[in-house]
Order: sequence, then structure tokens, then C-alpha cells
Amino acid sequence: MKTPPISIVKSVKFKAKPEATTLGFGKYFTDHMFTAKYSVEKGWHQAEVGPYKSFEIDPGASVLHYGQALFEGMKAFKQENEKVVLFRPEFNWHRMVAGADRLCMEAPPKDLFLNGIKELVKIDQEWIPDQPGSLYIRPTLVGTEAFLGVRPSNEMLFFAILSPVSSYYAEGSAPVNIWVETNYLRAAPGGLGATKAAANYAVSLKAALDAKKKGYSQVLWLDFSREYIEEVGTMNVFFVFENEIVTPSLDGTILGGGVRHSVIQLLKLWNLPISERKLKLSEVLEASKNGKLKEAFGTGTAAVISPIGELATESWKINLTNNGQQGELSKKIYDELTGVQYGRREDKLGWLQPL
Ligand code: COI
Repeated sequence: MKTPPISIVKSVKFKAKPEATTLGFGKYFTDHMFTAKYSVEKGWHQAEVGPYKSFEIDPGASVLHYGQALFEGMKAFKQENEKVVLFRPEFNWHRMVAGADRLCMEAPPKDLFLNGIKELVKIDQEWIPDQPGSLYIRPTLVGTEAFLGVRPSNEMLFFAILSPVSSYYAEGSAPVNIWVETNYLRAAPGGLGATKAAANYAVSLKAALDAKKKGYSQVLWLDFSREYIEEVGTMNVFFVFENEIVTPSLDGTILGGGVRHSVIQLLKLWNLPISERKLKLSEVLEASKNGKLKEAFGTGTAAVISPIGELATESWKINLTNNGQQGELSKKIYDELTGVQYGRREDKLGWLQPL
């Protein structure tokens, strides 16, 4: 597939940059965006880094009716020497390619994806907050052909927008409380669970809202049998037992996160006993009763490493709050991951890419 040249159009209007203390997650957007179009006739074309602005979209566009939409979450960091780096951007491209195949869409070629995002981050690099903040990157692919028959769209729009962020959760790096969802289901075998389809997030909203009303930040999703643990709303999960660290294996219904993969790499590097396997909720409860569950944490681009404080259902509650502190292992992982991202520690696993 031929990659079109990327034109750069600088904005003439610049927004005021938010104070670091007000950032939170995903509330502010930078001055520019990256867009590229695809059609079966023309291939990829009209690639541009230009001013951030609203789209004009045909009301018949397939994304608005049949939900052909896929996105990624990535980050850029400003290191201590002012160098700007991207964290594992190729991981995100590969995942978008796999998701596009599942949703019958055309993913942007690697060069277009990486170069478009790099040019965009370059033009808006003054927006990258100092640590512990970062620039969240949201690449998105949608079907834009106006046609009401149910079939794959022959036209796509790929775009990327940027948002300066601090913590995803209001709790910051303090433990988050999670509700175990036994009613609603996020994904079923053969479905979309392993893709970063927008639909997976639409389907999660009701459960997340119900959990919030009960005072919980997120839900822990179970598989269709309601026996096995899958993932948390916006994170993968890890459970630290006495002699084993377990994260659910990727059997087609779980989204394989980049931070999940990086944590597994780190644990292997440190010769710690990490298993990717099926994990029953009852095993976690049993280990907690026997004092063999040491800590639990979530991983995600937005959430980074997020310790889990309480895990609750209608009938039981596990408390892992550790006096409001991060557990020992999740703290060690957090320090290593963010140490590499901000350039304080050596990038032994080759995670970083310069602009
Ligand atoms: C991410 O961690 O990048 C996500 O996409 C999770 C969420 C903000 C949707």
C-alpha cells in the first residue's frame, strides 16, 4: 500500500494551556490533529497534520449506524533532558491492524500511522506536561462511507488527537475499589473482546455507572460462565499470590494491553513467577481467605499501574488496601515503567521511540 505524503498546516489560533493541577484525564485537546482518508479507489490519501477542528461527516456514514470504529491509546513523554519519546507505538499499530481486520476496515500503513503521529506530537510538543504528566494520543479509525446496507465501509477516516493528562483515576496512585460484575457481560467467545472497538466501551457503560453508584471506580469483568476473571473496564489485571503472579491469558475475549505486555516482560526479566493462565474468581477469594493473596493491580496506558484496594460482589468483599499505599510489587513495577518512560532508567527492553 502506497503511503501518501503528510502535509503540515500550522494553526493560527492557539489555545491557553491548562494548569498541571487541573489536567485529570482527557479533558483538554491540543492545537492540532492528524487526519488521513482512505477509499477503495484512491487508497490512503489527503494525509495532513492541521488545526484541531470539528469534522464534517455524512449522516449516512457507516460509523454512525453500524459502529465501525476502532481506537488506540498511546503516550508521549517529556524526559528529564527535554527529549520527547513515544512508548511502544508499534505495539499500537499492530493492534490496530488486527482490530481493523476483525471489523473489516483498512488500517493505515505503519509509516502513515507512525509518521503522522510523530509529526503531530512534534508540532504540539509544548503541550506535553512535566512528569508525572504525559501526552495521551488517541489514534482512531472509522468507516465513513454513506450507505445504509449492512456491509463493510469502502471509505475510512483515520485521525489522531492529543490530550495532556495526569492520572486517569481521581485516586491518583492510591488503590482503586473495583466491583465484580456478575450481571452484564463485556465480551463472549468469537466476539469483539480482543479488539479495541469503540463498541466494547459502549457496552461497558451501564455496568460502570451501576458500580459508581455503589461507590466503586470500575468493574471487574468475568467471562460468559461468570467463573473466570477477564479484565477491568480500562485495564488488564494482575493478582500477586504467595508463589505466583497471574494475569488472565488472552483467549480471544480480553484486550491485550501494551502495558500488560510490558509488565510481563519486566517480571520475566526479574525472574519472577508470572503465569498467563485462566483464573477463577473463586481462586482469588480462596487465596484471600488463606492469606495467600498479597496484592492486585491493573495495567493500562491511561491507568498506568493502578493498585486495587477493594474487590467486592453482593456477597463478599476482599480488602487489599495496604493502608492506602501501593503494594510492594506494583510499586516496583510502577517505578521501573515510569523510570524508563521519563528517562531516569535504562530502556533495556527497547520500549521507547524518539520523535
Ligand atoms: C487506554 O488505556 O489507553 C484506554 O484506551 C482506556 C480508556 C481510557 C478507554
